Amino acid sequence: MFNIFKRGIDKKLLQEVDPANLPRHVGIIMDGNGRWAEKRGLPRTAGHRAGAQNLKTITEFAGQMGIPYITAYAFSTENWKRPKEEVDALMQLLLDYLRDKDQLAGKNVTIRVIGDRSALSDEINREIDVIEDYTKDRDGMVLYLAINYGGRQEIVRGVNNLCRRVQQGELEPGDVTEAMLSAEVYTRDVPEADLIIRPSGELRLSNFLLWQSAYSEFWFSDINWPDFSTKDFTQAILDYQNRNRRFGGR
Ligand code: IPE
Ligand code: IPE
Ligand code: MG
Repeated sequence: MFNIFKRGIDKKLLQEVDPANLPRHVGIIMDGNGRWAEKRGLPRTAGHRAGAQNLKTITEFAGQMGIPYITAYAFSTENWKRPKEEVDALMQLLLDYLRDKDQLAGKNVTIRVIGDRSALSDEINREIDVIEDYTKDRDGMVLYLAINYGGRQEIVRGVNNLCRRVQQGELEPGDVTEAMLSAEVYTRDVPEADLIIRPSGELRLSNFLLWQSAYSEFWFSDINWPDFSTKDFTQAILDYQNRNRRFGGR
């Protein structure tokens, strides 16, 4: 069914996946990099590097499975609170990741970045423009990289855009609808998140996709992100396919 023959892939498990019932949009909170490194006596940066590498593996695998959209949480609006050395190392890693076009070339992945870009360096902003343009005509999966992203920031930004429209007389204050705000979030072009995966043992959203997760299914596990394998991803999809999504109905 799936043309994937790679080390570590559990083909039996994969064959249980129903290609007609895949989540359209999967959100991934890439957490646990620091603990992964600390457990091995390595600097936290080594964990972030391993985590970035793993995103490539999981994205490629998910794309081959037929999942159209992934949003990966790479840096939150709250992550600036970390020590400067760690923030700097994360920004350098992001830059390397964005520059590493050949790693993703041929994999048919379109990359888009979401979040508040105003706080990112000119260098990172330039690389974002380059990679978005470089990958824009691909017709495979779309990977949204959430950098300096916060669900609240995203909603407030959308509200401000709507306020401007009110001020310009395009809209009456009482006429704002859910659809209008949905059209203002960064992921306006894609379905809401069907499934949100958070490894590392934390049971929270940490300001990720607040608007888009109203009816998401959640999948948590104790595995740290660098260890999160294609098999774990397959298990998350299988569990998702066994959920009964009622959306408030019956
Ligand atoms: C996630 O790993 C990466 C980012 C938040 C940028 P962490 O750095 O949060 O790893 P832990 O949670 O400390 O293990
Ligand atoms: C969430 O992880 C943000 C990213 C993975 C980018 P954190 O490690 O920042 O979340 P908290 O602080 O444990 O909630
Ligand atoms: Mg963390």
